[in-house]
Amino acid sequence: MVLFSQFLVIYLLFLSTVWCQVTEFVSIDCGGTSNYSDPSSGLAWISDMGMMNYGKSVQVENPNGDRMQYRKRRDFPIDSKKYCYTLSTKERRRYIARATFQYGSLGTEDTYPKFQLYLDATQWSTVTVLDGSRAYVKEMIIRAPSNSIDVCICCATTGSPFISTLELRPLNLSMYATDFEDSFFLKVAARVNFGASSKDDIRYPDDPYDRIWESDLDKRQNFLVGEAPGTVRINTSKNVDIRTREYPPVKVMQTAVVGTEGVLSYRLNLEDFPANARAYAYFAEIQDLGANETRKFKLQQPYMPDYSNAVVNIAENANGSYTLYEPSYMNVTLNFVLSFSFVKTRDSTQGPLLNAIEINKYQKVAAKTEWQDVTVLEAFRSMSNGSGWPNDAGDPCIPAYWEWVTCSSSTPPRITKIALSGKNVLGEIPSEINYMEALTELWLDGNFLTGPLPDMSNLINLKIVHLENNNLNGSLPSYLGSLSNLQELHIENNSFSGQIPRALLTGKIIFEYENNPELHKGEQRKMRFKLILGSSIGVLAILLVLFLGSLYLLHNYRRKISNQKNKERGDSLRTSTKPSTAYSIARGGQFMDEGVAYYIPLSELEEATNYFSKEIGKGSFGSVYYGKMKDGKEVAVKIMADSSSHRAKQFVTEVALLSRIHHRNLVPLIGYCEEEHQRILVYEYMHNGTLRDRIPGSVNQKPLEWLARLQIAQDAAKGLEYLHTGCNPGIIHRDVKTSNILLDVNMRAKVSDFGLSRQAEEDLTHISSVARGTVGYLDPEYYAKQQLTEKSDVYSFGVVLLELISGRKPVSVEDFGAELNIVHWVGLFACFARSLIRKGDVISIVDPILIGNVKIESIWRIAEVALQCVEQQGCSRPRMQEIVLAIQDAIKIEKGSDQKLSAGSSKAQSSRKTLLTSFLEIESPDLSNGCLAPSARYFQQILDSKRGCLEAVADPVLVNMEKLQSRMQEISLAIQDAIKI
Ligand SMILES: *[C@@H]1O[C@H](CO)[C@@H](O)[C@H](O)[C@H]1NC(C)=O
Ligand SMILES: *[C@@H]1O[C@H](CO)[C@@H](O)[C@H](O)[C@H]1NC(C)=O
Ligand SMILES: *[C@@H]1O[C@H](CO)[C@@H](O)[C@H](O)[C@H]1NC(C)=O
Repeated sequence: MVLFSQFLVIYLLFLSTVWCQVTEFVSIDCGGTSNYSDPSSGLAWISDMGMMNYGKSVQVENPNGDRMQYRKRRDFPIDSKKYCYTLSTKERRRYIARATFQYGSLGTEDTYPKFQLYLDATQWSTVTVLDGSRAYVKEMIIRAPSNSIDVCICCATTGSPFISTLELRPLNLSMYATDFEDSFFLKVAARVNFGASSKDDIRYPDDPYDRIWESDLDKRQNFLVGEAPGTVRINTSKNVDIRTREYPPVKVMQTAVVGTEGVLSYRLNLEDFPANARAYAYFAEIQDLGANETRKFKLQQPYMPDYSNAVVNIAENANGSYTLYEPSYMNVTLNFVLSFSFVKTRDSTQGPLLNAIEINKYQKVAAKTEWQDVTVLEAFRSMSNGSGWPNDAGDPCIPAYWEWVTCSSSTPPRITKIALSGKNVLGEIPSEINYMEALTELWLDGNFLTGPLPDMSNLINLKIVHLENNNLNGSLPSYLGSLSNLQELHIENNSFSGQIPRALLTGKIIFEYENNPELHKGEQRKMRFKLILGSSIGVLAILLVLFLGSLYLLHNYRRKISNQKNKERGDSLRTSTKPSTAYSIARGGQFMDEGVAYYIPLSELEEATNYFSKEIGKGSFGSVYYGKMKDGKEVAVKIMADSSSHRAKQFVTEVALLSRIHHRNLVPLIGYCEEEHQRILVYEYMHNGTLRDRIPGSVNQKPLEWLARLQIAQDAAKGLEYLHTGCNPGIIHRDVKTSNILLDVNMRAKVSDFGLSRQAEEDLTHISSVARGTVGYLDPEYYAKQQLTEKSDVYSFGVVLLELISGRKPVSVEDFGAELNIVHWVGLFACFARSLIRKGDVISIVDPILIGNVKIESIWRIAEVALQCVEQQGCSRPRMQEIVLAIQDAIKIEKGSDQKLSAGSSKAQSSRKTLLTSFLEIESPDLSNGCLAPSARYFQQILDSKRGCLEAVADPVLVNMEKLQSRMQEISLAIQDAIKI
């Protein structure tokens, strides 16, 4: 057992007893027909009749014991569906969820049931009944991922699935906290009360949290064997102080076993192991030892170097007799058969003692269906008038699909098909449908849908769309023709109007559109003319391209045809030494425009920029000039400074790459020029400059409000997310920083300078890697290993977020002194931020301009994700997508529309809510129910972080030590203050 010195701190704290919210217990008697209160515990049980419409109540034959809740059970149909109970929870609160199964004796059936139990999308347990008289108990300790959980039963392999009871027990805020609770539940594997006075479990009311402490005398499960000789049972009637973290019941602590011959050993079976577990041992000295007597022992088996050498001296560890000492293992790998033994040390007069143990398996939380998809499904569901509508519950895809959807097998699952033909759906198609990127089939025919078609331009996987026999109106948007996988589109018997997009009439797509009186095919003449013109130029160009021995991108034609200056440009192309692109254009994401970058002759650029007279900035690759094209379009013209040979080879491929990237949060490339060793890129001009210029303390600009900063962060994050995941191959920006985030006329942010050294070609990575990146933003892992991943961008983006919060630049002489090594800055900043935030003092790092006008929780949310971004290890950093969600969360909080909007997003979100938010909880305990949380964990974290900061900047030569130390002094004083309280 390890003797965490920090645990002593706990005892300096005033810890109030928790007497919690029995009224918040949820106790459901499944299959029960009435509500009642249990005479033995006084707990109120309710029948599940109001919440479960499926299955039937069945009388249990020969129930074991007289507990009311086991007299009936609920049997579910034997089919491929799932049956779910939805229980309300408080998001991020910890609970014990418990389901029990007592079948009773077999009636006419010949086998006991075997089936699956799920908690949300996470496989909880396989319920296998072997003994009908036994109540099988499945417990999971969770931190509620949202404001409800689903407990689902499905997938019987024998018999019909059933359930006896379902219980939800809220826990005190810090109980059973783990380092992994973002992504792991704790499945209870063993909770044993040693030295128990009877075979009965101890639970409520002895345990105010209604855990079930199994008696070590209950050998029914045959799991406690291997008792060493000389093991005796002891007990006391004196009170035991149990106020540490897990608050085990006093009654459990009042009994223990002692190895009088120096050894205490047991063997027990752990269901579903080997696995990683959180394990707790509970020790309280409940014997009155004489002054010359000691009780010291070690864990001998299983041998764990970090723990086994530590000597347990209960009274000393717990700071007194009759006081609980609770060492625990955050993460230990255990086998199916756990043999453990404690052995006394040579100088100890007494043998080892043990009051109780708990072993909880880490159970990975499985991803639920993408929340955006679920949002749309929920919207459709709310649009039905009920008749003929399947009443599905739980997650749409896991463990079984809802009747009217089909899912992908990806993680998280996505909806690939919606089948709602003739289901009385009423209203407008929800606009969020545009986020369902994995959708391939959409069947909405024969309903009462009204309004125009929402934007569905993202749904590039759509193959079959049935919208016929509705009342849809409006025009048919042109992107329908460019959905490259579309095979069938049925819109007959609606009220669509306007012109049919040409691409739908080419015959490649089955397109049914009868009975839309206002819909017409439009100006066919002109079109045919254009087509002829187009194809003749096309043929000419193809010949040319063949002649040059190069490929030419077909997509360019459309643009050229629509452009009056096509001839002129065709000429320039011919004089260009390199052809344009041979890439196909990925039709993903949100398009800024459909164009492809085109060749612009140098002369035209000279004219546009007035011979490069107005420099507006210096990018990482050269100077940028303002220009205005003949058609009035404002542009930023970037002259590439680097003209070394390998760059020359890259140029064309880079242009090809850049020109296929279109996203509303990426600065679009309009054109390029390569003449006489000059390489020039022409971008859209961004009127509001760079984000760097907007960060306070720089130019005389009005400082940005918090919401505007969040908006910008969201835009930029989406742009980066698109680079990482929307392009194939993915693109690593490599130089994310505030001066590469540009603001357009509407103050929407676009990321610039991406792709100039892409990582697509492995061999080029190393050549250019050294040159890239900007001090202050540079990923330390990349710096150390020269290994580039998307997580390097994430790191840099984390620095951008810290800048947005603090209003400070990453390299600032005033803040930390000139001798501070820049590489350390972020680590230091992050570390200070961490400790301050842990103090509850997020304000200290916040841009003073913001204070007073923002919701602090919103800042917390960003601070939290920013700190995750700047983790040392790339693998600990979140993905861009998760960052986008966090920012959206913060925006919702800031806008105060949290309640209304978060239903969908918070589900997916909450898994990321971590430390900081749990500190928030601890900082402001919910006093309404009389619960005060102990702050032990919180202070331990502060101590840890203080130590960590010093380690993080272990290179004293490079650090302004004086300043650092005085800062540390402050922090530790603050901690001491806090402890005194
Ligand atoms: C049992 O209690 C629940 C919740 O209080 C209530 O909704 C339900 O109608 C009650 N059922 C019966 C049978 O009284
Ligand atoms: C526990 O430790 C193992 C082995 O070191 C590791 O693989 C695992 O990720 C850790 N955490 C959990 C929750 O299992
Ligand atoms: C402790 O002291 C008592 C008398 O005070 C004596 O009887 C006992 O043997 C001593 N025990 C040990 C282990 O020395």
